[in-house]
Formats: sequence, structure tokens, C-alpha cells
Amino acid sequence: MKILILQGPNLNLLGSREPDIYGSESLESLERNLREWAAEQSIELEFFQSNREAELLESLHSAKDNFEGIVFNPGAFTHSSIALRDAIAAISIPVVEVHLSEIQGRESWRRSSVTAQACSGMISGMGARGYRLAVLALKGP
Ligand code: DQA
Repeated sequence: MKILILQGPNLNLLGSREPDIYGSESLESLERNLREWAAEQSIELEFFQSNREAELLESLHSAKDNFEGIVFNPGAFTHSSIALRDAIAAISIPVVEVHLSEIQGRESWRRSSVTAQACSGMISGMGARGYRLAVLALKGP
């Protein structure tokens, strides 16, 4: 099974970015740990991070031919991007949205997710563990 881990804007700054909210682990370390854990269960992961909406859109479009599912943290695009929401709805593979922080417990404008409306599910507030839970959700029983 092959899953794409897609990361949106500012997630390249994990570790140094508001560590009280997003933790002190870098994106590189998060990805390495996730890859090692997934390999133990015969799941292959590919990683892509972009600060550009267009690149995230193109990545979603092409993923449908190469992956069986996507774990997506759209960063701040979560709260505004109808284009990303439509791309998720347009592809035939399941997408699980992940947020490191608990978006429901934060600023009022951060509580709603435009993109999650098109996803199979959303995991929020579990930190880096949320990515593992999302991979397991895609793997199924
Ligand atoms: C985030 C939550 C978003 O509101 C924020 O803009 C991010 C990170 C999270 O993982 O908690 O960039 O997606």
C-alpha cells in the first residue's frame, strides 16, 4: 500500500514555528519517524510539502494514479481554500485531513475546515501521532 503525506504552508517550519502549539519536532524528523513506523507494517509513504496552493492542487490531481490514499495537512489553506476542497472532491482516492493542533479549541476563524468537508475524515489535536492514526484509518482493518 502506498500513501502520500501532503503538507501545506508553513509546515516546513515545524520545530521552530510556535513550538508551544505545534511541538518541537522538525518536519524532517516527523517524516523519518513516520516512514520507519509505516515500513514495519508494509506501508510505503511518500512525502511532499509546499507553501504554494497550485503545487498542492497539482499534487492532489496526480496522486490519484499513484497512491491508494492521502494524508493531508493543508495548514492555513484549511480555512479558506475552496480550490483544494474541490480537488479533494474530484479525486477518487480517500483523503484524511490531519491537524497537529486542536483547531476546534483555537481562534473562531480556525475552527471550521473547508477542506475537511470533502475528506473521508479528520484528526485534529493529536500532534504528530495524528499522522499515524490517519495512515491506519486509510489502511483499514
Ligand atoms: C494546522 C492548523 C492550521 O490552522 C494552521 O494554519 C497550520 C497548522 C495544524 O496542523 O494544526 O498551519 O494545520
